[in-house]
Amino acid sequence: MLKYKVISKSESGTKALAAKITGFLYPGDVVLLTGDLGAGKTTFVGGALESLGYKEHVISPTFNILKCYFDVKPNVFHIDAYRLEDQNIDIGLEEFIEGEGVTFIEWPKFIAPLIPPKHLEVSLKRIGDTEREITVTDPNGFYQDFLKSLEDK
Ligand SMILES: Nc1ncnc2c1ncn2[C@@H]1O[C@H](COP(=O)(O)OP(=O)(O)O)[C@@H](O)[C@H]1O
Ligand SMILES: [Mg+2]
Repeated sequence: MLKYKVISKSESGTKALAAKITGFLYPGDVVLLTGDLGAGKTTFVGGALESLGYKEHVISPTFNILKCYFDVKPNVFHIDAYRLEDQNIDIGLEEFIEGEGVTFIEWPKFIAPLIPPKHLEVSLKRIGDTEREITVTDPNGFYQDFLKSLEDK
């Protein structure tokens, strides 16, 4: 299984990686973001949106759970499941996941039943004040070509 691992040295390094990955994504793609609070999951989504031309500051949808960006192409759906914990509340997130946009999901473990087998996982680990180890994996083998093109570029 291919794995793509980089050390990001700053917030802008993380955003640059997000931009690179986003360049290969299409509507229907699902990207899980894992890592502790403050690891840089929301920053990563901010980098993805900036690369698509979104100009405003991206904040976590923790309090709304879902934010939809219909003014960028591809559309972006940003889910932060932190506040759902394991409550199994049905708020219709499945309408968005694998729908007409790219979906980024923070704290996917809290909505495990809604995660489709086909997804990428970006895990961020704090290794210093501004250093993060970022690993992009493809747990179920659907994105091997994708990971290969990341390596090649
Ligand atoms: N290399 C880096 N990558 C991402 N964020 C970083 C980095 N270095 C410092 N930071 C800071 O860490 C914080 C990450 O916050 P955030 O993206 O909200 O994390 P999360 O969504 O994982 O809880 C931000 O304040 C950001 O400026
Ligand atoms: Mg966050």
